[in-house]
Amino acid sequence: MTIYAKITGTGSVLPERRISNDELAKEMATRGIETSDEWIVTRSGISFRHFTDDKTKTSDLAAEASRRALQAAGLDAQQVDLIILATSTPDCLGGFPSTACIMQEKLGITNQCAAFDIQAVCSGFVYAVSVADKFIRAGMYKNVLVIGAEIFSRILDFNDRGTCVLFGDGAGAVVLSASETPGVLASAQHADGRHRSILCVPGNVANGAIQGQAFLHMDGQAVFKLAVTVLDKVAHEVLDAAGMQTDQVDWVIPHQANIRIMQGTMKKLALPMEKLIVTVDQHGNTSAASIPLAMDAAVRDGRIKPGHTVMIEGVGGGFTWGAALLTM
Ligand code: UT7
Repeated sequence: MTIYAKITGTGSVLPERRISNDELAKEMATRGIETSDEWIVTRSGISFRHFTDDKTKTSDLAAEASRRALQAAGLDAQQVDLIILATSTPDCLGGFPSTACIMQEKLGITNQCAAFDIQAVCSGFVYAVSVADKFIRAGMYKNVLVIGAEIFSRILDFNDRGTCVLFGDGAGAVVLSASETPGVLASAQHADGRHRSILCVPGNVANGAIQGQAFLHMDGQAVFKLAVTVLDKVAHEVLDAAGMQTDQVDWVIPHQANIRIMQGTMKKLALPMEKLIVTVDQHGNTSAASIPLAMDAAVRDGRIKPGHTVMIEGVGGGFTWGAALLTM
């Protein structure tokens, strides 16, 4: 009997503080930096983003999104037998202990299940789904919590108008469980380290101090060009692997970075815009959290229904990218 990995619950959380473009522009103007709602909306499609307070940790957002996903799946936290958390903004410097381990404790999971973080920046959730799928298909684990959680506001340079208006904080989670009926149909991941410098946080730590730049750096146009090309290619790769045609896809949930990239992807796939799940306008770019946040929104408002075919696609720093095709 074939074992599949199927999504049995979704959950997400956004910090309470919701900032409009106008509010952000007003705040930036006090430091002599010019931007506008018009520029941000036209170039990116973003109108709002959420920022956490100073005390909240990535693991807090991850834990809350996970609680909601577990509740939706009707699963007790002790039944989780693997935690995979995608983040580029871990609780601890150097990334350890992993945010997954910290979150395991916050969820009160004492069954000693494996827990680790995945670092593939905005592609992290797609990578994590694929890894979870492999563990479940191999018969090793039954219930895997897969989370994307970020506090990007902590690595933004609010003096760099080319990046600080684009990102936000949040977390999304799914429970992937062993199933006799199809769930993850196909997945693919790629990386090309030659492009690592177009989206990065270039600094590091030595002798107890930060060396170099600790803020996110992005060459927006270079990222844009690469994103449009690789997303189309990887979409076809997973469709071919699943033996499916584009018109069999009910919903596309791309990484929510820029509405123009998302619309460009749909056009290349010859899919109608009605099949595109969009939250970038409300959330901004929440990196690894953006896909599970968008998925949870569309599951909870009834657009995504059991049996629907969903394509998720991520692209981000590294350079990394990937896609997965799922039956819900
Ligand atoms: O999450 C990982 C994936 N990330 C992405 O997918 C991001 C990909 N890139 C993008 O989404 C777009 O490239 C951006 C939204 C970042 C920028 O849009 P763009 O159309 O490529 O604009 P640009 O960088 O070419 O900048 C155009 C102009 C520049 O002025 P000049 O040189 O033409 O005078 C910028 O200085 O806009 C200026 N500018 C701004 N103006 C007002 C840049 N940022 C701002 C701003 N407000 N916030």
